[in-house]
Amino acid sequence: MHLRHILIIFTLASCWSTVSGVDLAEARKRLGTPDPATIPWPDGVPPSQALVDLGRTLFFDRRLSAKQNQSCASCHNPELGLSDGLALGIGTNGNRVGRNAPHLYNLAWSTVLYWDGRMTNMDEQATKPIQSKSQMAMDLGELEARLRGVAAYRTAFHSIFGDPAAPADGSAITRERLGQAIAAFERTLVSRDSAFDRHLAGAKDALMPEAVRGLDLFLGKANCIACHSGPNFTDDSFHNIGVKSADAGRAAIVPGALAQNAFRTPGLRNIALTAPYMHDGSIPTLEAVVRFYARGGDAPTPDTLVRKIDLSEGDIRDLIAFLSALSDPLRIPIPAVP
Ligand code: HEC
Ligand code: HEC
Repeated sequence: MHLRHILIIFTLASCWSTVSGVDLAEARKRLGTPDPATIPWPDGVPPSQALVDLGRTLFFDRRLSAKQNQSCASCHNPELGLSDGLALGIGTNGNRVGRNAPHLYNLAWSTVLYWDGRMTNMDEQATKPIQSKSQMAMDLGELEARLRGVAAYRTAFHSIFGDPAAPADGSAITRERLGQAIAAFERTLVSRDSAFDRHLAGAKDALMPEAVRGLDLFLGKANCIACHSGPNFTDDSFHNIGVKSADAGRAAIVPGALAQNAFRTPGLRNIALTAPYMHDGSIPTLEAVVRFYARGGDAPTPDTLVRKIDLSEGDIRDLIAFLSALSDPLRIPIPAVP
């Protein structure tokens, strides 16, 4: 073989390694695809299909709100990446809610919930929006009575939780079980088949070259990985990234300079579907988010991980291409609410 041919082969090989991602091994290690076998189920085992189905029906049932005009899915809409497309959502009474509705993907692994992490237990969390005055504004006692009036719920709760010898009279319907059912459904919302996951699994053409370059930036120069790490792209921790906002964030839960205006790092799966962004929905597009990071945020922050990043226009496009390759919105069957 001529030297010239060998050189051509070398050149092609080095191009190929750029296109296929130099950091595939690192991406597998520092990000990765979530493994449902590692979900910490409350009972140590996955819930029954009957419990998940009941939770899904309740999630879509407008009876859960005071005016019966709003379900969980109104603000966590499967058509909108389990969010609502609004900067700040609207509650049952037509009021604005205080923060942006987050998506609910891959929360089964989450050790903190809400933008400020004020809850940790999903079973308990599930009944909070029902009672929240700014959200569904419904009394749980009244809700139990309302659901006991529905034959399909009397039967479903009885067959899952009740004493088989007792009549299905609705007494099996309790707020704790309601929370358990909704949380069981929420834990099944595992998104793990995006183009990025296929890339990690070794599929050659899963990611466009620009998305591969975006991945390299994410892990490298842009250092997004410092906070958006692990298979769900979150460190489950709190940071002030310099969003201009009067919201104290984490500082309302635990004191400390670092907690001031700090919010939980949101997971980035399906992020292309859930605009607008941030705890207050103040950033309208992914492009605006990336430009926000490039200029080092909009407000001073003590977090040393936030700094100006020297990104070219091409880098910005590449990062957006990568973030857009994290979509796998799941097909969530819409139940027939009784
Ligand atoms: C009116 C809109 C609205 C409704 C209705 C609503 N939510 Fe939410 N949800 C929000 C907002 C806003 C937040 C963020 C609140 C915060 O962080 O302070 C949130 C946060 C959450 C979280 C935490 C997510 C995370 O990433 O930490 C879960 C879980 C959740 N909601 C589930 C539910 C369930 C279950 C229902 C129905 C029982 C429901 N939501 C009804 C707007 C809504
Ligand atoms: C210092 C930790 C940290 C770093 C570094 C970081 N993020 Fe974030 N990211 C956060 C936190 C915290 C939020 C939520 C902030 C808020 O709402 O005020 C966030 C929000 C986001 C959002 C909006 C998510 C949503 O659901 O609204 C996107 C998109 C995002 N980051 C992408 C990136 C990209 C791309 C990079 C790298 C250029 C990056 N992040 C670097 C911590 C970080």
